[in-house]
Amino acid sequence: MSIQIAPSILSADFCNLERDLKAIDHADLVHVDVMDHHFVPNLTLGEPIVKRICEVTDLPVDVHLMIEDPDRWAPEYAKLGASSVSFHVGAVHAPVRLARQLHEMGCKACLAVRPAEPVEPIFDILEEFDMILIMTVEPGFGGQKFLDNQMGKVRRLRDEITQRGLDTHIQVDGGVSPQTAHIVAEAGADVLVAGSSVYGAQDRAQAIDDIRSKAQA
Ligand code: DX5
Ligand code: ZN
Repeated sequence: MSIQIAPSILSADFCNLERDLKAIDHADLVHVDVMDHHFVPNLTLGEPIVKRICEVTDLPVDVHLMIEDPDRWAPEYAKLGASSVSFHVGAVHAPVRLARQLHEMGCKACLAVRPAEPVEPIFDILEEFDMILIMTVEPGFGGQKFLDNQMGKVRRLRDEITQRGLDTHIQVDGGVSPQTAHIVAEAGADVLVAGSSVYGAQDRAQAIDDIRSKAQA
């Protein structure tokens, strides 16, 4: 399975975003965390900044919405040029309708699951999504400790996807580093978000390579 690395700019320097986007230009995606002080106890950035990120980077922009009422806001990010938009199963009202709306706009749809939420209830609507995001920390902050107790969920989801012959990606987000990359890849994840382990490194390009090679080992 080919592995994609998606650095999260949550750990970048927001006053030097263009520089920090260039530093990760050989990653596969750039992961942008949108938080609203309601769904999670943190506030990051919104449409004007995502618009500029889409203009400035050549990478596909993967927007992770940690906000209430994604049904209202997700299409706005698709309009700005996001390649994929993730919204949380615990926040969305009509996931199938929203996924179809994003697809009509040429944007990929991803459903995100928090650590205490089971994955089985979404099996019936799996076909509607390009990617499922399994959170490996409680959403809201970078630099938290990786929850390896989420790997059972990743395995069960990978088995279901394989059995049904789907090509759904499994993204993991939280605590992914060269030390944990092989654990998530072995469990069946193929899109690895990494914030602090990339932006906390002196050499960001090297950190991306390290995560990729450990995941593929
Ligand atoms: C946390 C965000 C993550 C965050 C991950 O809620 O969704 O994308 O940037 O940061 P690390 O990789 O440092 O755990
Ligand atoms: Zn994220």
